[in-house]
Amino acid sequence: MAATQTTVSVTPYYDRPTELKAFDETKAGVKALADAGIQKIPRIFHNQPEPLPKSSTPFEIPVVDLGSTDRASTVAKIREASETVGFFQVVNHGIPVTVMNEMLQGVRRFHDQDVEVKKRFYTRDPSRAVIYNSNFDLFSSPAANWRDTFISLMAPSPPPLEELPEVCREIQVEYSNEVMKLGGVLFRLISEALKLNPNHLGDLDCDKALAFVAHCYPACPQPDLTMGATKHTDDGFITVLLQDEIGGLQILHNQQWVDVPPTPGALVVNIGDLLQMISNDKFRSVEHRVVANEKGPRVSVACFFSSSLAPSTKVYGPIKELVSDDNPARYRETTVYDYIQYSLSKGLDGVPRLLHLKL
Ligand code: OGA
Ligand code: NI
Repeated sequence: MAATQTTVSVTPYYDRPTELKAFDETKAGVKALADAGIQKIPRIFHNQPEPLPKSSTPFEIPVVDLGSTDRASTVAKIREASETVGFFQVVNHGIPVTVMNEMLQGVRRFHDQDVEVKKRFYTRDPSRAVIYNSNFDLFSSPAANWRDTFISLMAPSPPPLEELPEVCREIQVEYSNEVMKLGGVLFRLISEALKLNPNHLGDLDCDKALAFVAHCYPACPQPDLTMGATKHTDDGFITVLLQDEIGGLQILHNQQWVDVPPTPGALVVNIGDLLQMISNDKFRSVEHRVVANEKGPRVSVACFFSSSLAPSTKVYGPIKELVSDDNPARYRETTVYDYIQYSLSKGLDGVPRLLHLKL
């Protein structure tokens, strides 16, 4: 039998730092490249191919009905999903669909603005109230993603209204308040799912801070050559994700990529690194990615329960009730600030970041 020949296409050497800097200095993001109608994506966006297969058998992400009156069954569903898939969708979560849709519209309005207006927000300075840029890890990751993002820390104290983008400030505040309320509900359920007192995670302040992260994944002329988001885990306690109808989010389940199809009215919830850490690996922070798409822009809002780079001194480690002689602590303690600082400086390089805390 003849040997199969594999063709490996290698991007020739080029002056990557200079091209990254030139792209960053446009302050116009990926959106401007897509709007200009480019047919070939710049080399800085070329990604290494993923060796793992895409699942051919459909797998449904568990759906949790928060309107159910059977609390024990809701808690059991959340436990099962958090121990295995690391993701679930919630319905009847209390956030009106009108608020969700207006939020997505607001994100579209932000990214659709004139470049000159958007540029005023373009920064990599973590102390700014609104941080808009393309690829937070542009200069540290091996490949840039086909994505632009703006970020604000909305809780415990939101920035002054006038510092938020004019085109979406009201809905950004309203939606964040809704997500904070939902967070209160989720952290009580998750505490119970860990067989702790319902207030346990709230008493640890896991539900007190919210980083609001609004993505735009423009239409991509060569979706096979890049990614919307390189595979990663989320670094906060949990993430509540609102996505539009386009799709592209995939999670790693049993070594295969599984789609998280957009479900009208539902929100996606996933366990982050800090919750995996304090649960001493009982709950799993699972890798996921966003594929690039010829259709777009796709918009999404990821709300991370995390104080991100706000100064913090509270120390987190595996919860005492969840460790024992037979199951000793697997992680060393950290502040949220130190962990997020590490996570952001490392960027999305495909290597699990929680290894950093592993004992
Ligand atoms: C993230 C993320 C997914 C999406 O922001 O960490 O995974 O669908 N987002 O935008
Ligand atoms: Ni993520």
